[in-house]
Amino acid sequence: MTNTQIILKSKPDGNPSAENFEIASTDIPSPQDGEILCKALYLSLDPYMRGQISGRHISGTVHPGDLMRGETVSEVIESKSDVFKVGDLVMHHGGWQEFSITNSDDATLVDQRLKPYSLALGVMGMPGLTAYAGVHYLGELKPSDVVLVSAASGAVGSMVGQYALNIGCRVIGIAGSDEKCGWLRDVAGFHGTINYKNENLAEAIKRECPEGVDFYFDNVGGDMLDTVMWQLAIGARVVLCGLMAQYNTDVIPPGPNPASIIKARATVRGLVVYDFHDKKQEFLDFTIPLLDEEKIKYREDVSEGLDQAPHAFERLMKGQNFGKTIIKIS
Ligand SMILES: NC(=O)c1ccc[n+]([C@@H]2O[C@H](COP(=O)([O-])OP(=O)(O)OC[C@H]3O[C@@H](n4cnc5c(N)ncnc54)[C@H](OP(=O)(O)O)[C@@H]3O)[C@@H](O)[C@H]2O)c1
Repeated sequence: MTNTQIILKSKPDGNPSAENFEIASTDIPSPQDGEILCKALYLSLDPYMRGQISGRHISGTVHPGDLMRGETVSEVIESKSDVFKVGDLVMHHGGWQEFSITNSDDATLVDQRLKPYSLALGVMGMPGLTAYAGVHYLGELKPSDVVLVSAASGAVGSMVGQYALNIGCRVIGIAGSDEKCGWLRDVAGFHGTINYKNENLAEAIKRECPEGVDFYFDNVGGDMLDTVMWQLAIGARVVLCGLMAQYNTDVIPPGPNPASIIKARATVRGLVVYDFHDKKQEFLDFTIPLLDEEKIKYREDVSEGLDQAPHAFERLMKGQNFGKTIIKIS
């Protein structure tokens, strides 16, 4: 018996195709102490793998000549570990191959409540956990929220929508075909759907979310993210999760890139000072003593005479001011 593997042959230019991969055959490895030999039953294919090929994923790079990586559900067929025995079903990153060796520390037993076992790689696995975390830990959802999710029929998106339905939210899914949209409404129970491939996305969001979007879970980035962002309701929350719009390109779009926010697990919030007028006294009481103790430094860019205002404003907008632009009128 030999071990069949799928190797990355070349870096795709755009969408990957079968020609970018090649099949290899190797000997079946033997486990050492503490290791198990696994026979793969299911292999998960995920969008992040395209990022690994591009060298832009936080989990590292897959180079031409490398075995493709991926999470598997496997059966233990030989064990030199005290933790797992032959016949156990385990999850680990076995890669795109039939047989793999892993240290028992890097494997976990498949939860026997899961049937079929492939669920452990999908809605009950990493993608499901992604959705769960986004909704329950980051989204701060309330039953009154209008929730919009992109790539809604996928493992992540469909779970985001269903967790939000469970909370009592109105849930709208964006998907790329009528078949996907029909499944979201008729099977998954979404309140509404938008097929962004055959209708204008901005108009459809207005139709489905007339009061704006309270929570947007973004799996795509790019123009879709930009379009949704202009229809956020006041106090909206956005979870940036995926980058389907840019995985296949080597030309990174200009402007703030969701990847930087995702990588840093950053929180980005909009600020409008009008919302903080009730903090004015608190602000002064906090800051005036610091000013008096000369712990606050400041500069003013003062022009004399109202007639200087247009010129000072021109300088301000060209960045030629240095400090707070003030016109001393009298
Ligand atoms: N941040 C994290 O930790 C984390 C973890 C897991 C997954 N993710 C991300 O979550 C997203 C969804 O993952 P998934 O596993 O559930 O995948 P998926 O939704 O099953 O598949 C991806 C879907 O993206 C949609 N899509 C939208 N724009 C696209 C474009 N320009 N090109 C190709 N497809 C496009 C397609 O559906 P339509 O036909 O509806 O367009 C496609 O079916 C991915 O971006 C993934 O990278 C992030």
